[in-house]
Amino acid sequence: MRKLSVKDLDLKGKKVLMRVDFNVSLNKETGEITDDTRIKAALPTIDYILDQGASLILMSHLGRPKGKVVPQLRMDRVARRLEELLGKKVLKLDECVGEKVSAAVKSMKVGDVILLENTRFYPEERKNDPGFARELASLGDVFVNDAFGTAHRSHASTVGVANYLPSAAGLLMSKELEVLGGILTHPRTPFVAILGGAKVSDKIGVLENLLSKCQNILIGGGMAYTFLRAKGIPTGKSLVEEDKIEEAGQIMEKADKKDCQILLPLDHVVAPEAKSGVKTRVVGQREIPSDWMALDIGPETVDSFSHIIDGASTVFWNGPLGMFEVEEFSKGTQAIAKKLAESKADVVVGGGDSIAALKKENLLDKMSHVSTGGGASLEFLEGKELPGVSVLNDKKQGD
Ligand code: 3PG
Repeated sequence: MRKLSVKDLDLKGKKVLMRVDFNVSLNKETGEITDDTRIKAALPTIDYILDQGASLILMSHLGRPKGKVVPQLRMDRVARRLEELLGKKVLKLDECVGEKVSAAVKSMKVGDVILLENTRFYPEERKNDPGFARELASLGDVFVNDAFGTAHRSHASTVGVANYLPSAAGLLMSKELEVLGGILTHPRTPFVAILGGAKVSDKIGVLENLLSKCQNILIGGGMAYTFLRAKGIPTGKSLVEEDKIEEAGQIMEKADKKDCQILLPLDHVVAPEAKSGVKTRVVGQREIPSDWMALDIGPETVDSFSHIIDGASTVFWNGPLGMFEVEEFSKGTQAIAKKLAESKADVVVGGGDSIAALKKENLLDKMSHVSTGGGASLEFLEGKELPGVSVLNDKKQGD
């Protein structure tokens, strides 16, 4: 069932309560915003709402303050950045609910923008507390959820508020659902998934769901070694999730039955330790020395993965193919990022690390779609319903 869109609502003169995902990366020492992509991604919906003659109350979490006020996680810097990007005043409040907030909202004029304090300063947020949700909802006439990145969380500001107000998807939310939904339901084939990152356990759900949709799944990063072990290949001191070896084997068996080809690294960059400045070597698939670890895919793997990407029409990429934050082990991820940038396929990327790798190479704008959701995009591709989406009103005939 399609969800109501912000474009289906009559917003003139209304107060719009909107959940955004302004959970941006901050510099740990200075607290400055190091990546404002998520703020920029919400601008089309913000502009649209203001153009309709509405006023806007924004709410978001930032970090994981665990229900307490953490001064470094206040929303002030986010408000200033939003103000710069919007070119208009954003009134930042120090609370999310209460008398001061109600008074500020009451005196809003058409075109005004308020940003509430970090919703996760309130323990009620993560508990999806109905009282807190009702108080938040009392601030607006309608609710718009544009926080795709947080749509997998069932919290008061993502799910609870929707029980009290007409609720629609923002433009970013709709675009994410359309693109990610599209690759699940009608991808142009061949459809290739590239999955990396440290842990198999994070990706099992996606793997299971993509087996019946992809023609090829290319596996790299730390998770590849659990799969190699499942094939009886020695992996030395490489990262292996011992309790997932059996499951990795079962996934490969299922893939065979479904005509999905899983490709594992054919060679590796190995080192005695996972740190910068150590000596490295390229070895064949079965040649990882017993006291060394594999930390990146080698050149033969890059060639074989590139060959598959050349033939692909749709690619989904989540997770780096090696320990890319260390220069010595970043080449495999860089090479695949470059290959994807040249590819004619629809390339959809999700997950903070893959995005960081693309950013480092200045290749972000070469992708067809870069999802603002890490965990949310994975859960969506696992085939799960996202609570922040299911709670929105369904489109009726005529909307
Ligand atoms: C994210 O960064 O993936 C979202 O903002 C959700 O954050 P969370 O994992 O802390 O819920």
